[in-house]
This record gives sequence, structure tokens and C-alpha cells, in this order.
Amino acid sequence: MSKMRFLITILFGITTAAYAQKKEDALKDYVCNILPSLEGWCSREKALNFIDLVLEVKPNLCVEIGVFGGASLFPVASALKFLGKGIIVGIDPWERSENVKYYHPIEDHVDFKWWSTLDFNYIYDSYCMMLRRNGLGDCCVSIKSTSALAAAFLDNIDILYIDGNADEGITIQDVELYLPRVLSGGYIWINNALWPQRQKAIHLLADACDFVKAVDNGSCILFKKK
Ligand SMILES: C[S@@+](CC[C@H](N)C(=O)[O-])C[C@H]1O[C@@H](n2cnc3c(N)ncnc32)[C@H](O)[C@@H]1O
Repeated sequence: MSKMRFLITILFGITTAAYAQKKEDALKDYVCNILPSLEGWCSREKALNFIDLVLEVKPNLCVEIGVFGGASLFPVASALKFLGKGIIVGIDPWERSENVKYYHPIEDHVDFKWWSTLDFNYIYDSYCMMLRRNGLGDCCVSIKSTSALAAAFLDNIDILYIDGNADEGITIQDVELYLPRVLSGGYIWINNALWPQRQKAIHLLADACDFVKAVDNGSCILFKKK
């Protein structure tokens, strides 16, 4: 190869990489600008980590347990749309009874009251509007049910996000039902990882997976299945 040809090849490579980086930066800016207007709990740090993982793995199937208003689903779905491949399945009953039944009305009165008075129709509508406004309908499938009922329909998961019911038994059940459905080498995020009621489930994950990283000061942990 002549010197000139070599230089042109290198320059072309640099320009292409810079262009790709610019497009990724634009995606991240877009997501982070919209994020604060969505119902739910997804920090900028978490959103950027979710996007980076999707861009790296190029998954066919992502699953989120516990969607709420879609704040955490939004970065993942936006990254899938950007890639032009893959879907995210969002599972949530969007139902008051499922959320309050594990809380004691007196011992857990703060959570009990918060979930009892929440307008789930409003939350679900805001989620649907988020999908529509951002053109994410094609890369997102929503299952309005508990995670336990939806599990049988899902397999070969590349990236799983566990952020559903806060009850200890349900969190363990989520790991037991869904971990076998994640591909070997696939990824599992678990949220609210510092809560006492998540610890047994995290031990189960740690037995079957390698720890990858923690974000949001340790409240969200990423594992990679062995
Ligand atoms: C903490 S919120 C999820 C927040 C959301 N991932 C976000 O980042 O904004 C927990 C959600 O889990 C849902 N949930 C409760 N019980 C569930 C169950 N058995 N299966 C699936 N989701 C459940 C609730 O309806 C609620 O929307």
C-alpha cells in the first residue's frame, strides 16, 4: 500500500469513528433532556450506563420487570431504536392491589399510603404517551401483568432489569424465574440493591454471575451471568 493510500485509510477510519461518536452523543443528549419529564426513577448516570450496555451488547431481547412510567425503559428503548435492532419487553401490572398487598398498613404505613393513593391509570397513560411521542412503539412490547405470570413467555434474554415489587419473596422469585431465562454471558441489573429485602436475591445473583459494576452509589448493580 502506498503512503498516500495508507494515510487516506487512516483518515477515513478516524472520520467514521468521530461521526459514530457524535451520533451516540446526540442520542445520550436526547435521552437525558427528556428523562426529567418522565414518571419514575432513573438518574442520568443510570441512563447513560443503560445506553452504553445496549450499544455494546447489541441485544435481541431486553426485559424490564417493573416499568412504572418508563423512566428506565426509555434509555434502553431509545438505544435499541438507534441500533435499529432488538426489543425491550416491559412487564408491570400497573395495578394498586399488586403493590399494596405486601405492605403492612401500620408497620409500612408510609409505603402503604404512597402506593394506595397513586393513580396507576395516570402512570400507565404517561408511559404509553412516552412511547408514542418518541416513536418507540416498534421496539417495545408491554405486558400488563405480574412478572410471575409473564415469565413463561420469555427466554434467551440478553439484558434483564429487575426493578419490580419491593417484597423480599417477590424479588427472590424474580431472580429464580428469570435468571434461567437470561443467556449465559447475558447481563442482569438489579435496582434498590441496598435495600435489606433485596439482599437474598442479590446473593442468588452473585452465586450465578460475575459482578460487573455498581451505579448510583451502589443502589443499582450489574451482573454478568456465567
Ligand atoms: C420502583 S417501580 C419501577 C420503577 C421503574 N423501573 C423506573 O425506573 O422508573 C416498581 C414497579 O413494579 C411494579 N410491580 C409491582 N409488583 C409487580 C409484580 N409482581 N410484577 C411486576 N411488576 C410489579 C409496580 O407496579 C411499579 O410500577
